[in-house]
Amino acid sequence: MFSLEGKVALVTGGSRGLGRADALALARAGADVIITDILLESDQSGNSTDKYGPLAQSMKSQGVVYTEQTAAEIQKLNRRSAAYKMDVTDRQQVKEVIAKAREEFGRIDILVNNAATLDHVATIENQYDELWERDLNINLTGAYNCAKAVWPVMKEQQWGRIINMASVAGTLGGFGQASYSSTKAGVIGLTKSLALEGARHNITCNAIVPGIIGTEAWKSGNPKMNERMIARTAFRKPGEPEDIAHAIVFLATDEARYITGVELNVSGGIELFTF
Ligand SMILES: NC(=O)c1ccc[n+]([C@@H]2O[C@H](COP(=O)([O-])OP(=O)(O)OC[C@H]3O[C@@H](n4cnc5c(N)ncnc54)[C@H](O)[C@@H]3O)[C@@H](O)[C@H]2O)c1
Repeated sequence: MFSLEGKVALVTGGSRGLGRADALALARAGADVIITDILLESDQSGNSTDKYGPLAQSMKSQGVVYTEQTAAEIQKLNRRSAAYKMDVTDRQQVKEVIAKAREEFGRIDILVNNAATLDHVATIENQYDELWERDLNINLTGAYNCAKAVWPVMKEQQWGRIINMASVAGTLGGFGQASYSSTKAGVIGLTKSLALEGARHNITCNAIVPGIIGTEAWKSGNPKMNERMIARTAFRKPGEPEDIAHAIVFLATDEARYITGVELNVSGGIELFTF
């Protein structure tokens, strides 16, 4: 049970954090994995991080980029793996990478729409319109772009799993998170619509709703805010990236074939009435 042997997965935003953990967990369960991101260790295109904002720049300058390293780790598990540069907002690049992945790996069974940006907090009065647009473009339109590009492949295979990363910010809202929350609520709507459209083709689509997970990105946030978030979590601690990855692996298996359109909280109970 719960083997992904013979399956091919593609993870977006896999340079670090949850995307990297997802890629490794899918490979351990037997899948071949294509890891995509805007950041690749060998990518020397000087200003490539500028348009992606301060988080991308600081992660790159600190060397917190493991896209190719993760692919190499997966190959050591005797699975096929590749690291490709792919900006989920660039529709042409998304189409090209999906076509290349399919050609090289033969199929694409699992899409994990993980890429997102979570690098700013601002009340509506102080929200930069540019960041509102950027967040919608990456977090929501990016997931749409990737699902749309992979859809004909999964339809032809009559088998597919699309797993979208939402957030409790999308189900509960978040103070100073108008753009992020809206994109994550949108991702849940996208998930449910694709679940309905995919059922006839054996394609399931589900959303993971993480609470707070101790990734590099989360740790780089405001420490006082982070303490308050921990205090309202039933477990009183952040989750580990593997907590998300294991839920993704399960949703990708054959055994999860009758589960579609769900919002799966992997949140340590942050949405409960904790006191
Ligand atoms: N960490 C948490 O507490 C938490 C909570 C709720 C939801 N999430 C969601 O989980 C996912 C991963 O979060 P994380 O903490 O690992 O964050 P992260 O910032 O470490 O990971 C996001 C990844 O997306 C990549 N990315 C950014 N813009 C991109 C683009 N245009 N195209 C392709 N890749 C791009 C980044 O380079 C990075 O590797 C996100 O969808 C996030 O919203 C995280």
